Amino acid sequence: MDASDVLRNSLLQLAKQESIRDLVQKAPVSRAVVKRFVPGAQHADVVAAAGEIAATGRLSTIDYLGEDTTDLAQAQQTRDAYLELLTALRDEGLTEGGTVEVSLKLSALGQALPGDGNKIALEHAREICTLADLAGTTVTLDMEDHTTTDLTLEALRELRADFPGVGAVLQSYLYRTEADCRDLAVAGSRVRLCKGAYKEPESVAFQSGADVDKSYVRCLKILMEGPGYPMVATHDPRLVEIAGALAAKAGRAASSFEYQMLYGIRPDEQKRISDRGDQLRVYIPYGEEWYGYLMRRMAEKPANVMFFLRGLATKG
Ligand code: FDA
Repeated sequence: MDASDVLRNSLLQLAKQESIRDLVQKAPVSRAVVKRFVPGAQHADVVAAAGEIAATGRLSTIDYLGEDTTDLAQAQQTRDAYLELLTALRDEGLTEGGTVEVSLKLSALGQALPGDGNKIALEHAREICTLADLAGTTVTLDMEDHTTTDLTLEALRELRADFPGVGAVLQSYLYRTEADCRDLAVAGSRVRLCKGAYKEPESVAFQSGADVDKSYVRCLKILMEGPGYPMVATHDPRLVEIAGALAAKAGRAASSFEYQMLYGIRPDEQKRISDRGDQLRVYIPYGEEWYGYLMRRMAEKPANVMFFLRGLATKG
């Protein structure tokens, strides 16, 4: 592990402390600073952001923020938020042909509820997939910590039986992911490959950035050489370049894979990729529950912590 890996792990650990969460969430300027990564709390904010992105030729996927839901009403509220969002996007003509799709976290849909949590989350996801399908777009399942990987891949199998366009995220920091890529590199399968954003133990995940990157390349090779639809989710310039080379080597058309980056991160690079004729999808989170998402972005890049602290210091 190098210094930046240690810093990343410490920040993820720190972010879990209630006192830190309180401090950040209650700071009067947090919302203004958060805006760089999260366009707003309401449907209208994110529909406007997706519209602006579409106007520049980029695609997008929208995540209604929330995770680790512990009561049924909250899980239902998350489902309803997605249904309302999809309706608003469809009315704006943004869903057709998958210009804008949605990303779901099963934990936000009730996966961790005692008893039937998994079944409830799957049912909620199914309702969202049904509406997405009617609106002409797709759904991708986000991947959370490693204790949920099997459950998420099982949900993917069940959903794909009715909605073959449903995709899933795989994380190259997990040792298992190469094998998962082989399983999912099949016709019609959409796989979003990322490095992984959670703090995972050495028993299941590579700990050093260099090992995670090497794993990313091995996984990407499998996906690019297969008949599926790879979604290259990274801001890492080296990996973006390697993805282009692997796609060319596999004889892939630009329409047979896409690059993906997060809202507010490397926007110039996003435009450059889509302007050269490749597909670029922006992952846009929205909603009130921005804390966990924001802390993972801070951990990825210490400069973001400075950006955030400077905001607190100058406006607080
Ligand atoms: P890395 O973190 O090494 O960054 C490479 C370079 O990109 C940096 O040097 C910097 O220039 C730029 N950069 C990266 N992060 C930045 C930031 N926060 N601010 C400013 N610049 C930054 N994870 C997960 O566990 N489950 C999931 O479901 C998803 N879903 C997902 C979807 C999409 C579309 C993306 C792009 C990412 C995810 N992730 C995710 C997050 C992912 O696992 C990872 O944490 C981040 O993408 C950062 O990793 P990079 O590959 O960008 O490399």
